[in-house]
Amino acid sequence: MMKTIRDFDISGKRVLIRVDFNVPMDEAGNITDDLRIQTVMPTVQYALEQKARVILCSHMGRPKGERVEKFSLAPVARYLSDILGQTVQLAPDCIGSETEAMVAAMQDGDVLLLENLRYHAEEQANDPEFSKKLASLADVYINNAFAVSHRAHASVVGITEFVADKAAGFLLQKEMEYFHRSVDDPVRPLVAIIGGAKVSSKLGALVNMLDKVDALLIGGAMANTFLKSQGYGLGASKVEDDLLQEANSLLADAREKGVKVYLPVDVIAADSFSADATCKQVTIQDIPQGWMALDIGPASVICFQEVLADARTIIWNGPMGAFEMDPFARGTMALAHTVASSHALSITGGGDSNAAVKKFGEAENISYMSTGGGAFLMLMEGKELPGVVALEK
Ligand code: 3PG
Repeated sequence: MMKTIRDFDISGKRVLIRVDFNVPMDEAGNITDDLRIQTVMPTVQYALEQKARVILCSHMGRPKGERVEKFSLAPVARYLSDILGQTVQLAPDCIGSETEAMVAAMQDGDVLLLENLRYHAEEQANDPEFSKKLASLADVYINNAFAVSHRAHASVVGITEFVADKAAGFLLQKEMEYFHRSVDDPVRPLVAIIGGAKVSSKLGALVNMLDKVDALLIGGAMANTFLKSQGYGLGASKVEDDLLQEANSLLADAREKGVKVYLPVDVIAADSFSADATCKQVTIQDIPQGWMALDIGPASVICFQEVLADARTIIWNGPMGAFEMDPFARGTMALAHTVASSHALSITGGGDSNAAVKKFGEAENISYMSTGGGAFLMLMEGKELPGVVALEK
């Protein structure tokens, strides 16, 4: 069992909290989605109430071990100062003498944010010396970074070897509980909606989910590969030809296991991948030569809605089409409204699904929006997260 932050007396202690502040930003450095910041705040607030000295550390983007200004956490430090109503200083680095001095000068109730962990290649290499240096900044280590807990990195895994007291923050705990409730111990029927661009990135999840769900709805460009594996010609739609065999066997396995898999029966086809393309609604048998499927069509929406009407638990990963362009947004929008108005426990994961739910104004009506992308997918694959395993050791 994972310990949680409540299991320690942290008052007056240096509490290093690994968070995932890898948030989307626009070119001017404004944070465009603060889900990953808001969701770690209950842990930060709790630590402050306990009069701890709160040190936050995170990565941002993939700077590959170099100091790249656009990946600085400076905008996040400003954002935190605003929402906490107290100054959150940004240390110039995550290790080193200057940072150590700033930590040493902290008072109870202070919050310090360390600069991007990935400015050091040792972070992603899970380097023990680097892990030790990070650990030396803290009396207690808290992992509250669900979204990066699928990475065996120094601040997620390595560090746990060098701290006596380690535990999960409330966000990591909540993510694991919701996932467990929805996939390992669900109220049935459990229906999974899996979409997005590629079968290849979700094959492991699809295979594992077949053993968990009562029904599987497949949409998005990945549905094309499944449809082609069943003999449909799909015009110029995106298809992963090297995965046709896998797609076909997955559908055969599903039949054997008695799991219903629903594929689109119609689509919105377009003559190019652009918002001003000429579009038409066609059955999957009738996609014209040179045209591509970019959204599920209205008959598919109705069929998917009927399956969802019976669901008591819904897990959703990946959009139904190119929803960022209005002509191809309807399928994803309709499902967002359906899932949101359902009485089922609903959980969404992955940046695109969350962005879609938010775009269609349903973020408040989903039971739980996971902050994880890769981490959520790894759980869907039935694997353990290295960051969680390290805390349990
Ligand atoms: C994410 O955005 O999924 C996490 O922050 C992990 O980022 P990564 O894929 O660069 O490791």
